[in-house]
Amino acid sequence: MSMKLDPNAAPLSLALSVLGMPGMTAWWGLMHIGKPKAGETVVVSAASGAVGSVVGQLARLHGCRAVGIAGGKDKCDYVVKELGFDACVDYRAAGANLFKEIRAAAPKGIDVYFENVGGAVQAAVVPQLNDFARVPLCGLISQYNEMQMNPGPDWRLLLVKRATVTGFIVSDHFGQMEGFWKEVPAAVKAGKIKYREDIVKGIENAPEAFMGLLKGKNFGKLLVQVAEDPTRK
Ligand SMILES: NC(=O)c1ccc[n+]([C@@H]2O[C@H](COP(=O)([O-])OP(=O)(O)OC[C@H]3O[C@@H](n4cnc5c(N)ncnc54)[C@H](OP(=O)(O)O)[C@@H]3O)[C@@H](O)[C@H]2O)c1
Repeated sequence: MSMKLDPNAAPLSLALSVLGMPGMTAWWGLMHIGKPKAGETVVVSAASGAVGSVVGQLARLHGCRAVGIAGGKDKCDYVVKELGFDACVDYRAAGANLFKEIRAAAPKGIDVYFENVGGAVQAAVVPQLNDFARVPLCGLISQYNEMQMNPGPDWRLLLVKRATVTGFIVSDHFGQMEGFWKEVPAAVKAGKIKYREDIVKGIENAPEAFMGLLKGKNFGKLLVQVAEDPTRK
């Protein structure tokens, strides 16, 4: 994808986060696959991250209850207090109580589960899907380093709930982003969609930063800065 950037419109780095691929991923997955309706409950994992943060804020803008799942108190506080989600479950602190804590945060069940992580979080969420739930299958970050196949959700549950699980890769849809361009930049400019960047300076620090990403050490869109950014002076 090539994009001509206007340095007067927004900091250039936003083209790598909320106004670029991660923002498009959130918007496409939620709006085209999740199809949220006002009053429904949308749950998103990796909620403080580049994709998840936009998913929850869009869900709120479309009248839904937004529930995040994130690792750690700081991330959960940010998700609720800064981003305006209705609730956030700290999956690290919850441990064996994860199912119960998600139930408390989403007492009417889950209509849309925006899947970013897989693993234990997915196992606690899937039994709580409502009938006709939609699952945009965006990422499975907890499983990327696993050597063994994860068995995944119980297909019987998906059957009886008549759930729709749709995997997607955002680059297949770069040509269909008119709705994104209409909605998201204006919401960012108005402060209705907030974002956070985690900027690591120097290409020599990229490998460590990448390994940290797979352990949740980043807080916001992880970027490696290799040159001065004139739009930030
Ligand atoms: N389908 C597509 O086209 C597409 C496009 C872009 C991104 N993605 C996927 O979308 C997901 C989010 O991407 P992003 O750029 O927004 O990343 P991100 O949220 O900024 O960073 C990744 C986050 O994943 C969480 N995480 C890492 N290891 C985990 C584990 N073992 N269990 C649970 N959570 C874990 C961490 O947050 P916590 O500390 O909160 O756990 C970490 O901060 C990723 O799975 C990515 O691969 C898919």
